Amino acid sequence: MGIASELLKLDDVKVYSNGLIVFKKSGSEVCGKKIIKVSNIITSINDLSEQEVLKYLKTYFNSLNLGFPVEVRAIFKPLDKERVVSELNKKIQNLLITIDVNPSNVKAKTDLDRLVKFKDRIVRHGIQPYDVLAYYVVEACSGSEEDVIKLLNTRASLLMKTLESLGVMTNELKGVEGRALLQMFFRGHTYGLYDLLIRLLRWRYSLRIASPLLAVFNPHIISMRTKFDLRSAGIYLGFNILTSEDVYWNVEKCLNPHVLVVGPSGIGKTETLITVLVRMCSTYSTKVFVVDVKNEYRDRLLRRGHEVGVVNLGVEVGLGINHLMRLIPKSFRATYLTEMVSDSMLLGSDKEVTATLYRVFSEALEFVEDNYSNFWGVIKDVVSSVDDEYVQYRLMRMVNTVESLDRGTPLINAVSGSGPITIVNMSNISMLGVDYLNLSMSVFFNTIQLLYMSNVSENHVPKVQVVVDEAWQFLLHKVPLLLKLLKLGRGYGVSIALATQSLYDLGGLSKEYIENAGLLIALPSPDMMYWKDLSKYMRVSYDEIRDYSLLLGKGDALIRILPDPRPIPLRLDHEV
Ligand SMILES: Nc1ncnc2c1ncn2[C@@H]1O[C@H](COP(=O)(O)OP(=O)(O)OP(=O)(O)O)[C@@H](O)[C@H]1O
Ligand SMILES: [Mg+2]
Repeated sequence: MGIASELLKLDDVKVYSNGLIVFKKSGSEVCGKKIIKVSNIITSINDLSEQEVLKYLKTYFNSLNLGFPVEVRAIFKPLDKERVVSELNKKIQNLLITIDVNPSNVKAKTDLDRLVKFKDRIVRHGIQPYDVLAYYVVEACSGSEEDVIKLLNTRASLLMKTLESLGVMTNELKGVEGRALLQMFFRGHTYGLYDLLIRLLRWRYSLRIASPLLAVFNPHIISMRTKFDLRSAGIYLGFNILTSEDVYWNVEKCLNPHVLVVGPSGIGKTETLITVLVRMCSTYSTKVFVVDVKNEYRDRLLRRGHEVGVVNLGVEVGLGINHLMRLIPKSFRATYLTEMVSDSMLLGSDKEVTATLYRVFSEALEFVEDNYSNFWGVIKDVVSSVDDEYVQYRLMRMVNTVESLDRGTPLINAVSGSGPITIVNMSNISMLGVDYLNLSMSVFFNTIQLLYMSNVSENHVPKVQVVVDEAWQFLLHKVPLLLKLLKLGRGYGVSIALATQSLYDLGGLSKEYIENAGLLIALPSPDMMYWKDLSKYMRVSYDEIRDYSLLLGKGDALIRILPDPRPIPLRLDHEV
C-alpha cells in the first residue's frame, strides 16, 4: 500500500490522493483518516427475508468490531431512468426466453419476478433509481505523521481483509475520486480550490451524500459469496447429523480464525480442542501453543500419536520479563510493564498502587539503562524508597513473586525455538493462585504478540494458534486480555481457541467473545437454559432447541461458522 503523491500542503492539513488525509490536532498530536471504497455493491434485491437480513447485518456489524473506530459513509448516485428501464427490459426479455426453454428454472423465475417489481417501481410509482456508493473510513492519531500514516494503512488493510471475509470487496481510492471524497467527508479541514472542485464534481455527477446508515441498511451491499464455500474445505470437523454431509471449517473464508468451545464438565471440550489444533497444524501448517493449566495435553496428544514440545513454566522456564524489555521501544517500557502486571490484577484495581508501580518501573528502567542482569534488584531498591508503608509492602510482595517466576530460561527463547505443537504447562503456576496465572498468561500473550504480531498477515491462514482450555480461570476477573487478542489476532494471523463451561464464564463480555469466534462449537448439555442462552447467538427457534437438546449426545455438537448464523448439528470426528 504505497503512499501516493502529496497533493495539498497547508499548514496543518495534508491530503494524499489514495484516500488519506493527515492533519494536526491540538498540540503535538497528528491525526488522520483513510477512506476505502466498496467495489462490489450488489444492486439486485436478494431473496433473504427481512428478519434474515437483520440477523445478517447484526453479525456483520459486530464483526467489524476491530478495536478502532470505523465509519460507514454512503452516497446516492441517481441513475438515468430511461437507461435503467431499457436495460431492465432487455434483461426481462432474456429471462422470458430462458424460462420458455426451461420452465423449471427456478432461479430465472425468481430473477424475473424481482426485475419486474423493480421496473414497476420505476415506471408505475415514479421511484428514482439510484446507485449506492459505499465507503468506509478509518481514523488514527499518534505523535508523528509517519506513525499516523503507518497506522492508517495497517488499519485500512485489516478492515479490507475483514470486509473481504464478509464478501464485501473494497479498494483503495485513486486520483480524482480520492480527492473529491476527502473534500466531501472532511470539509472544514481543507479549503479554497478544493471546495470549488467538489462543488463542480457534485454538480457533474449530481452526487448526494446520504445518511451513513444507508449503507448499513442497504443489505444489497453484502454479497452471499462466502456463504457457500465456508464449510466445504479446510479443517474436517465431522458430519451433519441431519444431512450426512461432511462439514469442514474453512478458516480462510471464515470471518475470523478463532474458536470457542462451550459445554459442561466432562462432555469433551478438551478432546474437541485437541482435534481442532491437530488439524489446524496439519491443514494450514499453523504453529500451535497450548496453555495447559491441568497438565493433561502432553499425555493426551502423545496417546493420539503426536509429538509435542513442553515448556514447564515456573520450573526450568521463567517469564523472562527482563528479556522482553529489550524488544520494546525504550519510551514504552514502563507503561508496558505496568500494563502487564495490572492485567493480572495482582494489585487489584487500586489506582494509587498502580500509579506508584509505574513510577517505580520508570525510575528503575532509567537506572538500569540496557543492563537487565540486576533488573529486579534495582526495582526492589526503588520500592524500598516508597514512602507509604502499606503501598511499599504490597509492591515488595508482588515484586518478590514476579522475580521468582522470572528466573530460568526466558519464555521468549523457549517459545521462539519450539516445534509445531508446544505445550506451555502452567500447572505449577496455577497452584500459586489465579493472579499469578493471569500474570503468566499476560506475559505469554505479550511474548506471542512481540514474536508474531508485528506484520499484518497477507492472507487468512493462521500462522499461530494459541489454545486456552479452562478459559474461565482467565476470565474470572473479566480480564479483557483474551478479548484484546481475539480482536487483534485475526489481522496478524493469530488464531485463539478457547474452551469454557458456560457462557456465564465469559461475564459481561460474553457477547463480544461469541461474536469474535468464527467457529462456535456448543457441546450438548441437559440444561435447557444453556440452549436458550446459545439461541441468542445461533439462529434457532425454541422448538429446535428442544429438539437439539434431545437429539445431541456425547460426541455431538451444534456449531456455527460465521458469517453464516445458521447452526449445524454435527457428529464430531476425533479420529486421527
Ligand atoms: N466423542 C467422544 N467419544 C468418546 N469419548 C469421549 C468423546 N469426547 C470425549 N470423550 C472422553 O470423555 C472424557 C472427558 O472428555 P474431555 O476431557 O475432553 O472433557 P472436558 O469437557 O474437557 O472435561 P472437563 O470439563 O473436565 O475439562 C475423556 O475421557 C474423553 O476421552
Ligand atoms: Mg477439559
